[in-house]
Amino acid sequence: MPEPKLNQTPGDKSRYDQRFAGVLGEHYDLRARVMPYHEQFQDTVKDTLADFAKKHPEASILKVLEVGCGTGQTSIRILEADPRIKVVSVDTDEKLMEKAKKVLADMADRIEFIHQDILSVLTAMPDQSMDAMASGLTIHNFTTEYRLEVMKEVARVLKSGGLFVNADKYAFDDPEAHAKSLKEQIDSFEMFDTMHIPGLDIPKLKKGWVEHYQEDEKTKITESEQIKMLEDLGFKDIKVIFRESMEAVITATKK
Ligand SMILES: C[S@@+](CC[C@H](N)C(=O)[O-])C[C@H]1O[C@@H](n2cnc3c(N)ncnc32)[C@H](O)[C@@H]1O
Repeated sequence: MPEPKLNQTPGDKSRYDQRFAGVLGEHYDLRARVMPYHEQFQDTVKDTLADFAKKHPEASILKVLEVGCGTGQTSIRILEADPRIKVVSVDTDEKLMEKAKKVLADMADRIEFIHQDILSVLTAMPDQSMDAMASGLTIHNFTTEYRLEVMKEVARVLKSGGLFVNADKYAFDDPEAHAKSLKEQIDSFEMFDTMHIPGLDIPKLKKGWVEHYQEDEKTKITESEQIKMLEDLGFKDIKVIFRESMEAVITATKK
């Protein structure tokens, strides 16, 4: 997929962390195995895009920007949603992106991978050039300031009527409910103990995920904060279409 020609030059690395370097990235897919609703959560992205595509029978191509491919668990669902979908997928982690490329080799002609930080790529994209933005478990990793800049750019590059779909960690507005869901998630990492994978240092993996979740607390975004941000950026039909523990899927349409 040759156009648009996007920014491939390194962005300012101090603006984003390599949060999946080391054991978390090496064994990233094990995270899904301790999240009982993971498939349903990710499938919500696919179903949302499939509905969106059905509403656009006139389009020969639907351009979707994916924020953070990781190992391709969301990317595959985006591609499966409709054969007209072409994806530009952006990730800062080259090792995870290489795994995604292998998983998606059969659909390589429909996905362009860019090893770059999303803000650098977005700022080089023309206004109203994408039909949809889709993402899974990525945007919560951003700092509050970087996230807002990304969201402003997403609002700029989406076409009028364009879709935002984000399956992510969204804190409950009620602090008590949030604290309960955080405890549930941290407790769920005990399930790693039941896995017997040669060479895997289970205590290190558990510690890594617990620390990751504790760090997320510093930049967490609540459901209401995301809704307000989307309203302020000119989105309508904002909906929370899935919620289990800390994870939710939020959709919106660019006015
Ligand atoms: C938790 S993974 C999720 C991947 C996949 N969507 C899934 O649900 O399995 C988050 C990904 O976002 C990437 N990422 C984090 N910050 C980023 C940034 N600023 N720009 C692009 N990708 C980023 C990470 O490298 C990582 O691969």
